[in-house]
Amino acid sequence: MQKSPWWQHSVIYEIYPRSFQDSNGDGIGDLNGIVARLDYLVKLGVDAVWISPIYPSPMADFGYDVADYCGIDPIFGTMDDFKHLLAEVHSRGLRMILDFVPNHTSDYHPWFIESRSSRMNPKRDWYLWRDQPSNWLSNFGGSAWEFDETTRQYYLHSFLKQQPDLNWRNPDVKAAMFDALRFWLGLGVDGFRVDVMWLMIKDDQFRDNPPNPGYRLGQPSNNRLLPVYSSDRPEVHQLVAAMRAVVDEFPDRVLIGEIYLPVQQLMTYYGAGLKGANLPFNFQLLQCAWSAEAVAQVITGYEGALPIGAWPNWVLGNHDQPRMATRVGPSQARVAAMLLLTLPGTLTMYYGEELGMTNVPIAPEQVQDPAEKNEPGLGQGRDPERTPMPWDDSHCAGFTAASPWLPIGDDYASLNVEALEQNQDSILHLYRRLIGLRRSHPTLVKAKLDVVTADSGVLRFQRVGEEHFLVLLNMSHNPVQVEIGQGTILVCTYLDREAQQVKDSLHLRAAEGVVIQLDQSTEKLL
Ligand code: NOJ
Repeated sequence: MQKSPWWQHSVIYEIYPRSFQDSNGDGIGDLNGIVARLDYLVKLGVDAVWISPIYPSPMADFGYDVADYCGIDPIFGTMDDFKHLLAEVHSRGLRMILDFVPNHTSDYHPWFIESRSSRMNPKRDWYLWRDQPSNWLSNFGGSAWEFDETTRQYYLHSFLKQQPDLNWRNPDVKAAMFDALRFWLGLGVDGFRVDVMWLMIKDDQFRDNPPNPGYRLGQPSNNRLLPVYSSDRPEVHQLVAAMRAVVDEFPDRVLIGEIYLPVQQLMTYYGAGLKGANLPFNFQLLQCAWSAEAVAQVITGYEGALPIGAWPNWVLGNHDQPRMATRVGPSQARVAAMLLLTLPGTLTMYYGEELGMTNVPIAPEQVQDPAEKNEPGLGQGRDPERTPMPWDDSHCAGFTAASPWLPIGDDYASLNVEALEQNQDSILHLYRRLIGLRRSHPTLVKAKLDVVTADSGVLRFQRVGEEHFLVLLNMSHNPVQVEIGQGTILVCTYLDREAQQVKDSLHLRAAEGVVIQLDQSTEKLL
C-alpha cells in the first residue's frame, strides 16, 4: 500500500520567531533560540514547524514585508544558522514549513526601488501602477493606493504602504518568485504556508468594489466595501496551480494556503484535479461561535463541502487571531484541544496554545503592530497574541536575558512550560496525551467522521475506521448526563478518568471532554 504523505498525518506547530526564544540577548527571538527548544517540540509530539517570515525585512509588518526572498534577516541570524536549524529539525524527524509572502514585497525590496524610480524602468510593471486609484481599501485602513511623487502615479498596497503589491500577471515576477521557492526547496525546506493566497491576483480593469451593506460604524474601515474585484479572482487558481507545480518539482513537499473565505469558495483552492493547494487553511474554528451547535454545523458543513479526495485540515490558532484560551476561557481551551486533536486531517496549532496562553493586554505605549497603530481601538491589534513564550518563572520567563520586544504575560510565574510540566494534570500534559493518542491511533487521523450532533451543550461525533471512537465534548458550563454505548475512556480533559470502563450512560462534568474507545460489540449509536 502507498504510504500517505507526511503532511497528511501531521500536527503543524506555528512558531512566531520573534517570540519563541531569544538566544543573543536582544529581546527578540531568533533561529538559534528555536534550535535550543526543538527537544521541547519533539516531546510535545508535533510533526512539523511552520516559521513565520525570517527573511530580510525593515519589519514594518514584522517580516511580512520582505526585502529579499532568499536571505535571512540578521535579527533572526545568518544563512548558516538557518541551515543549522534545518538540519537539527530534520535530525529529529521533524519537518520545516516556511512562510512565503507572494502578494507584496517591502518598499525596500530592490525590485520596488527600481520600479518606483521611473516609468520606463524595466521593473515598472512588476508592481501595480495607475494614474487613477480605484476605491479599493487597504486591509490596514485607508486607501489601498499611494501616490508616489517621483513618477506621479499611484501604486497598490493591499496592506501597508510599505508593502507594495506585486503584479503577478507579469511573467518575470512569476519566474523570479518561483525561483525563490526553488531556492528554499533546494535547501531542503519541506513546504510553504503562502500568505494571503486569495489576494494574489486583482481585477485586470481595477473596477471599483461595491459597498458592503453589512458595514457598521466602529468596524475596521476596510469592511466598508466588498472586495469583489480585489480578491479571490478567477485567475488566481492558475497561479496557485503553477505554484504547486513548482513545489511538486521536489518530492514530498507541501503547499498550504492562507485563505479567509466562506467554505464553498475556500474549497476551490484545492484546485481542478486537486492540483492547487494541498491544504487551503480551514480557519472556521477560529471564527465560529463556541457552542456545540455552531461547531457541529461547521464540522458537517466543511466535511460536506470537501471535494472528493481532498485532504481536510483544521486550525486552532495563529499570529493574527485572538488566542483560544482568551476567547473561550481556560477550561474550554482544554475542550478545544480535544476537539482539534480528534478531528480528521492535518492540524495546525499556534505556539503557547499547549500552555493555555492568553492574550496579553498591551498598553498604548507598548503597541508594535501597525494594524493597531493605523486604526487604534478597533480591536485590530495582534500584539496580544504574539507575546513571548513563557518557559520558566525566572526573570523574563526564560525567553530572553534582555527586555522583551513585547511584554510577557503577568501570569508567567505559574503559567510557564516548567511549571506545567511538573503539574501532571496541566493542559500541557493534556496536549501531549492527545497528540500521542493521535499518533498511536491512525483512525483518528484518517477515518470517517460520523454522526455529528449537538445536544444539551454536548458536541458528539464518532471516528469509525479500524477502531471505533466516540468523542463527547461538553461545551457548556453545566454538568450533563449523556447516553453512550460500551467502551473505555482513553483520555478525558481533566486527565483523571483514563482506562475507566463505561457503559450506557455517562456523567460529564462542566467543560469535560472524553474520547471513548467503543467496544466492537457496540452498534453505531444515534
Ligand atoms: C497575513 C499575515 O498572516 C499577517 O500577519 C500579515 O500582516 C498580512 N498577511 C500581510 O502580509
